[in-house]
Amino acid sequence: MYKTIKDLDLHNKKVIIRCDFNVPIQNGIIMDDNRIVQSLKTIHYAISKNAKVILMSHLGRVKTEDDLKKNSLKVVAKRLEELLNIPVVFVNHTHGKELEEKIERLQPKEVLLMENTRFEDLEGKKESSNDEQLGKYWASLGDVFVNDAFGTIHRGHASNVGISSHLESAIGFLVEKELEELGKLNHPKRDFVVLLGGSKVSDKIGVIKNLVEKCDKILIGGGMSYTFLKAKGYEIGKSLLDSENIDFCKNILSKYEKKIYLPVDTILTDKIDEEGIVKNVFIQNIDHELTGVDIGLETVKKYSEIIKNAGMILWNGPLGVYEIDQFSQGTRKLLEAVTNSKAISILGGGDIVAAALKFGYKDKVTHASTGGGATLAYLEGVALPGLKYIAEKE
Ligand code: 3PG
Repeated sequence: MYKTIKDLDLHNKKVIIRCDFNVPIQNGIIMDDNRIVQSLKTIHYAISKNAKVILMSHLGRVKTEDDLKKNSLKVVAKRLEELLNIPVVFVNHTHGKELEEKIERLQPKEVLLMENTRFEDLEGKKESSNDEQLGKYWASLGDVFVNDAFGTIHRGHASNVGISSHLESAIGFLVEKELEELGKLNHPKRDFVVLLGGSKVSDKIGVIKNLVEKCDKILIGGGMSYTFLKAKGYEIGKSLLDSENIDFCKNILSKYEKKIYLPVDTILTDKIDEEGIVKNVFIQNIDHELTGVDIGLETVKKYSEIIKNAGMILWNGPLGVYEIDQFSQGTRKLLEAVTNSKAISILGGGDIVAAALKFGYKDKVTHASTGGGATLAYLEGVALPGLKYIAEKE
């Protein structure tokens, strides 16, 4: 158990809260504010304890001057004001006199949001390389530090690990909840079924290696399934192939033949858009001119049966091109099966959470993680740098 915000004295203190406000933004509009909403509990708590609240977050990746305009957190400050229903002081700097003065003027219960921490990446990647001076400088702006950015917990950056190496630190409620929910996977209810999709095998190798012994069944779908099918000797047409990882697929399939399930049929198309044809074929009959874009109906049936008897389900990565209606049925129907089952259901962040939100299942699962890469890192069982300087308690 890590020290949490409840273990800190916040009264009249300048409390730096590192959030993950890295939300999708299109033409200046936030497309999904879930990460902001999930951060509110910690912010509200700090306000209720008379803290002077200093929020920090990154947004996207900053490599050029143009990225500075695209990736400002100003729009997030506006959304936060609406959600918190109090003014949020937005400072469009990441260092300097204006920021320091505005922080000094902050009163208990007031909230300030600093500009995107990755603006410091423009010269010398100071944020992302955890520049020692930058972490120390940001730490000097506060009295205590709360890391509530679960989505960034797998990064060792100045705004998380850097600051926490200089200040008394704790995790926030969001990180606490994520660790608790994902921690359930370490004591799985049987059958423990893992659904894995998404495009690249390479992204999931660590997860497969870490979970294959712990789970009872792994059901494969999505773009990555075609590399597994290729490894079994099937023709996959123009479907996605991760050729560098065919050997990995062959080896893991031969070692865990009974645990790893592959699609028995698939949806093929000639064009990955709304106009593309939709052809459901058994995997023995994949046309070499066509592309696989979803699992087929027989696979949906087979996987749904397995899900029915599951005690715990972990799902990472969509099973088809869910953004396009006619290639979304595998993901949609299995989300339905998962939410109809009695199993503890955990969506491992990223695209599958976006899909669950789109089809109205996000609030019907036990836990939808706010992490993407962070959740994968957790599932791979690797150490999470963002927690390095947070003390553990009994
Ligand atoms: C995410 O969206 O996965 C996190 O915010 C981390 O972002 P990053 O991959 O750019 O570090």
